Amino acid sequence: MNDQKNDWKTIVLFGATGDLAKRKLLPGLYNIFKANPQAFRFHIVAVGRKAFFNKDEDFEQSYESLVKKSIQTYSSMSFNTSDFTAFCKTILYYQMDMNNPLAYTDLKNCLDQIDNDGNRLYYLATSAQYFEIVTGNLGVLGMNRSEKGWRRVVIEKPFGSDLQTARTLNQGIKEYFQETQIYRIDHYLAKEMTQNILMIRGKNAVFNAVWNKAYIDHIQITVSEDMGVDNRAGYYDKSGALRDMIQNHLLQILALTTMRFCDVNDTEAIRDAKTEIFKSLKVMTHDELHKNVVLGQYEGYRNIEGVHPESLTETFSALKLEVNLEEWTGVPVYLRTGKMLKKKEAYIMIEFKSGQLCKNKAKEAPNRLVIKIQPEEGVVFHFNIKEPGNTLEMNEVAMDFCQTCDLSYNSPEAYESLLLDALAGDQSRFTRWDE
Ligand code: BG6
Repeated sequence: MNDQKNDWKTIVLFGATGDLAKRKLLPGLYNIFKANPQAFRFHIVAVGRKAFFNKDEDFEQSYESLVKKSIQTYSSMSFNTSDFTAFCKTILYYQMDMNNPLAYTDLKNCLDQIDNDGNRLYYLATSAQYFEIVTGNLGVLGMNRSEKGWRRVVIEKPFGSDLQTARTLNQGIKEYFQETQIYRIDHYLAKEMTQNILMIRGKNAVFNAVWNKAYIDHIQITVSEDMGVDNRAGYYDKSGALRDMIQNHLLQILALTTMRFCDVNDTEAIRDAKTEIFKSLKVMTHDELHKNVVLGQYEGYRNIEGVHPESLTETFSALKLEVNLEEWTGVPVYLRTGKMLKKKEAYIMIEFKSGQLCKNKAKEAPNRLVIKIQPEEGVVFHFNIKEPGNTLEMNEVAMDFCQTCDLSYNSPEAYESLLLDALAGDQSRFTRWDE
């Protein structure tokens, strides 16, 4: 290998014409490129089934045109032609049928020519049916390892549809890739305020000291969306809100909110602490399920193309859970998510028990700490203060910190951060198998 090329990395993007590539990955890579073109030492091999024209023959029908539209529509960075042209020079579109084992030999030859068997990140932005097919075919040809560089694989969701299918999928992937090579992605872990949860808890004595059942009445975690399922009905109707949002994004937030402290620079310690929470979630009996779980479906869902006309898939779910650790017993945790709700927002609300130290007839509201994840990023603390004047009546007021209202601040997109993590070999914001 050419010495100068030692620190180059190849990103092999399977599913390069799909929704995720268009909405998140290509714009994310473009943002990384724009932030520092000199440091962008990546080859992108975009693998898809579709045939595209060469851009000189018909730009509108070329892969470059798809990249352009995706960046113009979804990138948070400004578009300019010279950056775009330079970025496109790092991309090679590679047409192949992922179902055809023979096609992988040609792919291997093509990649070897590009990176001489060097560092490679395989990103599986495909539908789930391909996860095992692709990793298996890469493994059979020995593309899962290399003497000259590292090999990693990023797996999207759904990671199986229940415990058994998840186990089978995991075993399949593990036949060729070790846990240290597997990056199971959950983009909520890289949202700015999700990462802030442990910092807010741990770096503020005023919150740290009261973060337990003695002071907290209950916890609410809400992720609501105003959009429907759009063109993802094929996937969503088999998945539903519990599998699409709760088992991954909301449970991860729950873990960060309730986990015990550990060294935040220690990837495995964070994962151990989160796993402790998942293991301690109280398992519900059949009767408890009826009392503690609410499922719903928005009107009109069954008329969407790709949705079964009698579908019972839930597009809304709300759960009451309990963390069975000494510091949390008796504190309900409510998780809530759904599509086609009034607005798009995600937040954690910690409601404290009532103060009641001053005995008088004035009523106070419970203190509430709200960590806003999106669209606004910030922290609001609601507390009580005496009404001005000659009275002891109380008012609820709020201290409001809005991070995204600061115009000089622009938080990086979650996918952008996670791509960089995977390329740097940092697994701390990816989920481990036992999670
Ligand atoms: C994805 C789900 O993981 O998260 C989608 O599959 C959902 O259904 C999306 O819309 C929400 O992500 P965000 O970042 O827009 O809140």
